[in-house]
Amino acid sequence: MQDNKKIRQFILQEKVGYGAFGDVYKAIDENTNEVFAIKRIFSGKSQQIDQSTIREISALSSLKGQNHIVPLQQVIFEKGCVYIVLPFYPYNLYGFIKKYNEINYKKIFKQLILGVYNIHKLGFMHRDLKPLNILVDENQNVYISDFGIARMNFGQCRNFNSNCEKHSYEVITLHFRPPENLLGCDNYHVSVDVWSLGCVFYQVVMKEILFYGDSQIEMLFKIFSKLGTPSAFIAPSLCSLPLFNHFLDFIQLSIYFSKSYSLKQDTKELIQLIG
Ligand SMILES: Nc1ncnc2c1ncn2[C@@H]1O[C@H](COP(=O)(O)OP(=O)(O)O)[C@@H](O)[C@H]1O
Ligand SMILES: [Mg+2]
Repeated sequence: MQDNKKIRQFILQEKVGYGAFGDVYKAIDENTNEVFAIKRIFSGKSQQIDQSTIREISALSSLKGQNHIVPLQQVIFEKGCVYIVLPFYPYNLYGFIKKYNEINYKKIFKQLILGVYNIHKLGFMHRDLKPLNILVDENQNVYISDFGIARMNFGQCRNFNSNCEKHSYEVITLHFRPPENLLGCDNYHVSVDVWSLGCVFYQVVMKEILFYGDSQIEMLFKIFSKLGTPSAFIAPSLCSLPLFNHFLDFIQLSIYFSKSYSLKQDTKELIQLIG
């Protein structure tokens, strides 16, 4: 993209964010000199708008006017691209906590709780709450953004095994993903956002990720070693999820291996044992 490209009255400036589907630019409205952010999403050769863009636009339109949600300004379709126009914010929460020490925790947390409440009140689940998807202004006002994988949640399931609507469980960035998704639950509800929000709060205060794992199984290890492994008595619906028994088998196997073998032993022996 050339510098200073124009989309209608908006003059695109520097890139401020890189995304999976497109990039985010700072932009100036040449009529008013107001600063905006424009998320540019390619629709590709097919000129079809992908599902994530439709989700984002429809969630942002429905949530317009709700406090602590990034307010959609305009959507422009032009030259094979979709441009989502938003107010410009100087930070995302990840950058903000790295840069500043004087953080008004109460103010930020209260706004985030209200923002998530407003999303759920209108029947949406965000499904990707994390510091990078929360925008912050100079006065520590926060706005939840990036609704690319948000969706409506019609069912009010309270039990993971009930016959409610099915959703993909491989959503939510790994470090902010709750145990029910990690265990293969496909009828979770809005509470998944509450888990992510808890992880965000910890990260804002401690400046480190609460549960740091590189895979689903490592995430489960991290979560259960901090909080205890759930039993069928305290969390029956969690323990009956599709991957729970696999997880227990995996733990037993790894305990067996760690007892029987030290890392120095011949790996051939290990491979024979597994085979
Ligand atoms: N309104 C905005 N003002 C300033 N920066 C923004 C704005 N919206 C997004 N960004 C920046 O761009 C990044 C990516 O945007 P996001 O909407 O999360 O896209 P993606 O879906 O690709 O993750 C954000 O983490 C943030 O740093
Ligand atoms: Mg994002």
